[in-house]
Amino acid sequence: MTLVAPAGHALGLCYNRVMDGNPFASPVVELVRARRSCRSFAAVAPEPRLLAGLEAFAAGVAVPFGSGPRFGVIDNEIVRAGNLFSAGSYGMIKGARFYLAVLVRRSEPRRWEDAGFAMEAAVLRATDLGLGSCWIGGVFDRRRFGRTLGMDAGEQLPAVIVLGWPAERRSLRDRLVRWSAKGDRRKPAADLFFAGGWGSPMALEDAGQWAQILESVRFAPSASNKQPWRLVRLGDAFHFFLSRDKAYSAMMPLADLQRIDMGIAMCHFQFSATELGLKGEWGGHDPKLPDTPANFEYVVSFVTQ
Ligand SMILES: Cc1cc2nc3c(=O)[nH]c(=O)nc-3n(C[C@H](O)[C@H](O)[C@H](O)COP(=O)(O)O)c2cc1C
Repeated sequence: MTLVAPAGHALGLCYNRVMDGNPFASPVVELVRARRSCRSFAAVAPEPRLLAGLEAFAAGVAVPFGSGPRFGVIDNEIVRAGNLFSAGSYGMIKGARFYLAVLVRRSEPRRWEDAGFAMEAAVLRATDLGLGSCWIGGVFDRRRFGRTLGMDAGEQLPAVIVLGWPAERRSLRDRLVRWSAKGDRRKPAADLFFAGGWGSPMALEDAGQWAQILESVRFAPSASNKQPWRLVRLGDAFHFFLSRDKAYSAMMPLADLQRIDMGIAMCHFQFSATELGLKGEWGGHDPKLPDTPANFEYVVSFVTQ
């Protein structure tokens, strides 16, 4: 197992390149495929320098909605030392010690997508460095983690990412959680991507280089692997919709995890497009498509150039 960052992967703060290039050492389309949630970590913790670099990286990502999330690294050993009853995350993660947390402002309506976008960029960066990671949006010690980061009344802590060197062997719990979330499975492209309207699944063979970008979206992580992203191509735009699971959202009132999923998909889409030299920009252009299912929410459009 690799315990140090591989040669050439030293953390440079290349976030200025986020909008106009690939800020990762490896191709994004490879990182997207290599990443999977890691829930079993080695006893050796990553160096603080590496974690501080990831925090700075996330803070430097130009988020699409400009809502200004902030980030912090949590050392759960320190949190636990001060709080006998804090479990950190909910016990499904073996050997977890460090978390990257995102804090968003309640007043910002698009805070969830921005949090998803920036944190997923950090996940890809971590993957690039050989670190294992897992999004945690369900049960974790929001109150104490928030307090550790000086969270104020106007802020929320929607999710964290657990970070560490992957253990050589995955724990039984890890395998169980993956199995129950069907973590390896993805919906077929025909369920997710459409051309012209909801009645016509997009033929990826005809999508040219965009096919690879859509595959990057399909491989994205999502809360409980629900894959709520639905994209419709109309003319020169890709319109992003969220297929909302209302019962699920009601069960998770502390954060809009499905909007975070949309931000993650936007991250995979944008970085993959940039890497392939395909240009465009984000904007609000609701196509008001007929026959849009009642539980679908329009989120954003990527207008190609
Ligand atoms: C916003 C979000 C929240 C998540 N919350 C949790 C969580 O609380 N616990 C957990 O074990 N996994 C969590 N996951 C990980 C998903 O279960 C995982 O991404 C999905 O099953 C797909 O598997 P993969 O990441 O290995 O591709 C979360 C993922 C996302 C994107």
